Amino acid sequence: MKTTREKIEELRQLREQALLGGGKKRIEAQHKKGKLTARERIDLLLDPGTFQELDMFATHRSTDFGLDEQKILGDGVVTGYGKIEGRLIYVFSQDFTVFGGSLAEAHAEKICKIMDLALKNGAPVIGLNDSGGARIQEGVVSLGAYADIFLRNTLASGVVPQISAILGPCAGGAVYSPAITDFIFMVEGTSHMFVTGPNVVKTVTHEEVSFEDLGGATVHNAISGVAHFSMPSEAECLRAIRTLLGYLPANNMDDPPLLTNDDPASRADEDLDDIVPDNPNRPYDMKEVIRRIVDRGSFLEVQEQWAKNIVIGFARFNGRPAGIIAQQPMNLAGVLDINASDKAARFVRFCDCFNIPIVTLEDVPGFLPGVGQEHGGIIRHGAKLLFAYCEATVPKVTVITRKAYGGAYDVMSSKHVRGDINYAWPTAEIAVMGVDGAVNIIFKDEIEHAADSEAKRAELVAYYQEKFANPYIAAARGYVDEVIEPRHTREKIIVALEMLKNKRDTNPPKKHGNIPL
Ligand code: HXC
Repeated sequence: MKTTREKIEELRQLREQALLGGGKKRIEAQHKKGKLTARERIDLLLDPGTFQELDMFATHRSTDFGLDEQKILGDGVVTGYGKIEGRLIYVFSQDFTVFGGSLAEAHAEKICKIMDLALKNGAPVIGLNDSGGARIQEGVVSLGAYADIFLRNTLASGVVPQISAILGPCAGGAVYSPAITDFIFMVEGTSHMFVTGPNVVKTVTHEEVSFEDLGGATVHNAISGVAHFSMPSEAECLRAIRTLLGYLPANNMDDPPLLTNDDPASRADEDLDDIVPDNPNRPYDMKEVIRRIVDRGSFLEVQEQWAKNIVIGFARFNGRPAGIIAQQPMNLAGVLDINASDKAARFVRFCDCFNIPIVTLEDVPGFLPGVGQEHGGIIRHGAKLLFAYCEATVPKVTVITRKAYGGAYDVMSSKHVRGDINYAWPTAEIAVMGVDGAVNIIFKDEIEHAADSEAKRAELVAYYQEKFANPYIAAARGYVDEVIEPRHTREKIIVALEMLKNKRDTNPPKKHGNIPL
């Protein structure tokens, strides 16, 4: 019989064995690919010494295909809980050195266990994905195991923040777990996501494509809009996840963390008075506006490379986190199109789930015209953004910097869709449509019958511009609460958010709405 000391020694040896995962050779191979191991990633992600591992000795129960001879402690995933900036989070980290990080029964049970704990205790879940997908040897059990995770992802959505990092392959149905989570991070060159890989694509469609061109970080950040952040290295990716969490509450019953701030709340910025060009058709950089009004250095842009005509991201106003949605006149004149609508709608809904106030900076000439947009369903996609703003009950502060035309005026957090405080700069143009289009329609006959049509047109454009392209008609009706000098925008947003901090608003009781997906 073993002595107590021997039993403790046995435990230590088992732990040593588990820490090695798939063994030294496979760890070296992982490093050679420029990738960290599952445990190295957790060490970088969490505050030092806070990780508490669960199920270190879990193993599969399969006997097919010789698996009974290959039981590896932990079954290819490291799971547990720890802290980021002193706040509780749950984490799973797939270990590619064990069966290629493939997912099966025991592996999934470990992930489900921490997800259940996260839901009960109200803390974010971070998934570090690096997996060959469903473990082929365990067959349909692997598929069921995935579905167990998808269900939990869905039930946890809107209750605790869920963040996915793709740090290697993520293929087949496996992509749908990250896809249900709130944010996806990818690493340039080493992470790939696709429903069917290059070989299947070649067989079915005869297209030849590399892993990178099919589902690399650039593809999903710039083209498909599946991912939200693209990072040059794993270390930067894990650091960025820490930064993102700094804006988020632990759960839907919690408030986002308030930080101390040394950027004066009343800081005026005179340069903002000159940022909107005299010519309304000339662009300016809305990101410059954002940088100047938020707490210095606090803007974290989300989906920076996709649908650049709308900018979304988190920032702080006097230490208080907010989500920013802003048109970008530098790109497609800030028009609302299919991708911009999808991008902003999902972000509005995220903020609303997690009690994060929404600040909207508006300069929108309208929805993008065109056969491609109409046939692509701009009606359906634009409706998502409208729906998202309408249902959002978090504090909503809007600043119209220039154009607010047509349906896009209504959509972008207008008073009518429960915008709480709506400001306009003196440069705001709030009207049914842009000056040129409006004049061509309502003065069609006068222009046609004038002796000098062009002169008449110019005269009517000037008249319309003067009469309608300003904020005062909307202000006279209370659609705009205050016309403000651009230089005071920061202070005005801060006082509004402060005033709204205890806002309570509700929607009628229902199972859930039917957002036009
Ligand atoms: C079991 C797997 C595996 C899997 C990889 N391995 N994927 N074992 N099930 N799905 C094992 C390999 O046998 C190998 O074991 C080790 O992991 C490393 O794999 P390599 O191929 O040597 O690595 P690499 O060259 O880097 O290629 C990685 C890879 C490739 C691109 C992921 O392994 C691959 O294509 N795997 C299959 C991917 C796949 O089709 N999965 C099923 C997708 S469908 P040894 O012992 O040699 O080290 C799916 C459905 C989910 O996931 C449905 C959910 C609803």
